[in-house]
Amino acid sequence: MRPVKVKDDIYWVGAVDWDLRDFHGYLTQRGSSYNAYLIMDEKITLVDTVKAYLVEEMLDRIAHVVDPSKIDYIICNHVEMDHSGGITRLMELAPNATIITSPNGQRGLKAHYKRDWPMQVVKTGDRLSLGKRNLSFVLTQMVHWPDNMVAYMPEEKILFSNDAFGQHIASMERFDDQFSYHLIMEEAKKYYANIVLPYGAQVQNALQALAGLEIDLIATSHGLLWRSHVPEILEEYGKWAANYTEEKALIIYDTMWESTKKIAYAIQRAFEHKGIDSKMVNLDSNHMSDIMTELITAKYVCVGSPTLNNNMLPSVAAFLTYLKGLAPKQRVGLAFGSYGWGGQGVAQIEEALKAAGFDMLKPVKAQYIPDERALEEITAQVEAVVGG
Ligand code: FEO
Repeated sequence: MRPVKVKDDIYWVGAVDWDLRDFHGYLTQRGSSYNAYLIMDEKITLVDTVKAYLVEEMLDRIAHVVDPSKIDYIICNHVEMDHSGGITRLMELAPNATIITSPNGQRGLKAHYKRDWPMQVVKTGDRLSLGKRNLSFVLTQMVHWPDNMVAYMPEEKILFSNDAFGQHIASMERFDDQFSYHLIMEEAKKYYANIVLPYGAQVQNALQALAGLEIDLIATSHGLLWRSHVPEILEEYGKWAANYTEEKALIIYDTMWESTKKIAYAIQRAFEHKGIDSKMVNLDSNHMSDIMTELITAKYVCVGSPTLNNNMLPSVAAFLTYLKGLAPKQRVGLAFGSYGWGGQGVAQIEEALKAAGFDMLKPVKAQYIPDERALEEITAQVEAVVGG
């Protein structure tokens, strides 16, 4: 397995995870890659590693350039095991290598691997000389773990960004201009929505810290490297971190006997009348992580369920739990649903969205099967309160 030259004496030596379809609940329908980088300088340096089960693939790529035992520095930008999983094997081969990491990275590595490896701790602004080139570090705490940092090489204008700006894509291509721009951006958006979204404030701080740097190449730890669309991905991250939304509605529901579905379509009619884009999302046929990708730019989030055994449907409860964890901000919510007698489901949705910080519109309920007149009233009720 061959390394891929990124710049003179700098190589991609990561691994491609063709089979990955689930990343703790996130549907990774295009697989992923774990990107590690080998820098051949006076100090031979590896930036990040790969998942443990793919470490031999990484070592094979490194061995095309240099004997892995000659590595001097291992930069650990992030302890999560998709990037640190190869360290144990690597330290067996190169026991004198020094691991360069953040203060929380040092604690995290010790807690994960219980080894006494040589480590050097760095903070924002610290510079490490590799010989002809240098790496300077910016701690990016909570984007998305306490240990995260990025490394910048001024001589080559490369930002080794780890998880930031990544996409879960398995491919033979390594650079953004070798792949469909639309697909990369869509997967970058999905990655942000499902991994980074809770940390918008920290992303804004990180973007500010990077603002003065000249960046020719963003060497991510997942998916394609950005070399032709650097301004575009920085701009999108800025918008997502600022909770930028569009006049767009997501109508998310599950249904038992189609009554909640009828209400969902009556609500959609209201948005249509007001000229607001909308999308119907049945939880039975859409994955939660894809819904989050849509939700990231949607101002209106309508969630519907019938009542089953005094509760909302389990599919709706699961979605709301996932949504709460990802904590989107500055959204308008609407709870809706049908019921037979108790009708607790809608109130539970209302409560969950309120607890998530949504500004709530008046909920919409209908008993048993709403007729055309009831549906028209629902449309009118919603139309009266949305849009300008
Ligand atoms: Fe790609 Fe947070 O690990």
